[in-house]
Amino acid sequence: MMQLRFPDDFVFGAATSSYQIEGAWNEDGKGESIWDRFAHTPGKIEDGTTGDIACDHVHRWQEDIGLMADLGLDAYRFSVSWPRVLPNGTGQVSDAGLAFYDRMVDGLLEAGIRPFLTLYHWDLPQALQERGGWTDRRIVDAFCEYADVVSRRLGDRVKDWITLNEPFVSAIIGHWEGRHAPGHRNEEEMLATTHHLLLAHGRSVPVIRANVPDGQIGITNVHHPFHAASDSEYDRLTVEEYDGLLNRTFLDPLVGRGYPSVVPYNRATLDSFIQPGDLDAMTAPLDFLGVNYYTRRIERHPRVPASENLPQTVFPRDEHTEMGWEVYPEGLFEIMERLHRDYAFPQYFITENGAAYPDSVDESGAVQDPKRVAYYQSHLAQTARIVKSGIPLRGYFAWSLLDNFEWSFGFSRRFGIVYVDFETQQRIPKASYQWYRTLIAERAIELDSSD
Ligand code: FCB
Repeated sequence: MMQLRFPDDFVFGAATSSYQIEGAWNEDGKGESIWDRFAHTPGKIEDGTTGDIACDHVHRWQEDIGLMADLGLDAYRFSVSWPRVLPNGTGQVSDAGLAFYDRMVDGLLEAGIRPFLTLYHWDLPQALQERGGWTDRRIVDAFCEYADVVSRRLGDRVKDWITLNEPFVSAIIGHWEGRHAPGHRNEEEMLATTHHLLLAHGRSVPVIRANVPDGQIGITNVHHPFHAASDSEYDRLTVEEYDGLLNRTFLDPLVGRGYPSVVPYNRATLDSFIQPGDLDAMTAPLDFLGVNYYTRRIERHPRVPASENLPQTVFPRDEHTEMGWEVYPEGLFEIMERLHRDYAFPQYFITENGAAYPDSVDESGAVQDPKRVAYYQSHLAQTARIVKSGIPLRGYFAWSLLDNFEWSFGFSRRFGIVYVDFETQQRIPKASYQWYRTLIAERAIELDSSD
């Protein structure tokens, strides 16, 4: 057994997002979001649920901050609902909406918890969707207006800002695969969305910076390592293409390299959306990169016979979460090393990491979740190794504080370290919460030989 210590200023956090926990979907003048619309459309959500109430966090935020304080969190990552603040997306500001976040931020600071604020975690105002949403270039100005309103109001207290959460998902799953709001399946729309998201990000950075001169600003991407199932040229090309799509499309432009060329989409179509100055705007200097990590991806081209598979990829460790995602903690180290080698951001935060498993309340009223504990143990062991290797990784956020509305899966996937009974809204800290609490208190992790 060996023990690794985390630096004293390493930030231990937990994350959530507005649509997934807030509820109060049409209260106090909040506008409709594309997720309200999508979830209310029959057939879109696996279990037929919506985020109308979710964790009822808008009414229970004080209790939730109590849970965070008891856990000993250094930081809490949450997102602001754009249509709660600007019901029509632009123009009229909702005082009640802003006041909610204002009180919540004060509550966090009183509890000694550092707020990390994400501006966009997928709940676009429906009013903006009606005029084309992310496919329409006017969205860039709308996003800057929204970023200005929020950073003006909260920037005296919130110092850590994330522009977008996983633009890959908004673009590809929302506009190409259609499994997320707004549920479109169109490559051209996906590419317009990609470009406008990255442009909105880049243009909003100086706006936030002007309002929060002592702030730190970053973007959060999802990143996976991609592995080929075999040594075949086909598999290797597939890996390069999907790495180009998921990892490089959302990073290369941020560091001035423009869009990558080996990609599984039509580059000429993407290029048709670029106007003079766009690529420069995307390179607005960032203080950190936020990395969401869940698993790796193994790519296999349909032409490659299964007999050519590499042994290590045919038999990946036979552990999967309820999402069907392989448990692959080494991938966290691998992707962080690669990101730092190829992009050298000044700092990194792991802004999400966690696992869905079916949970239930036992006779004693407790929730035992040993698989989730093992997931956190192995990924936090990798986190400690990353820090030790000298990569400027400054913090880690568990996904998620609470069981919540897992997008197209509704309430059928539980990611929380706190169990939520969605009938009664009772919160029950799980064993993984207790495990994380001990880790945060000790600021050290035991590694066993498999770590
Ligand atoms: C990420 C999302 C987050 C949650 C987790 C499981 O892609 O950012 O909202 O759904 O996956």
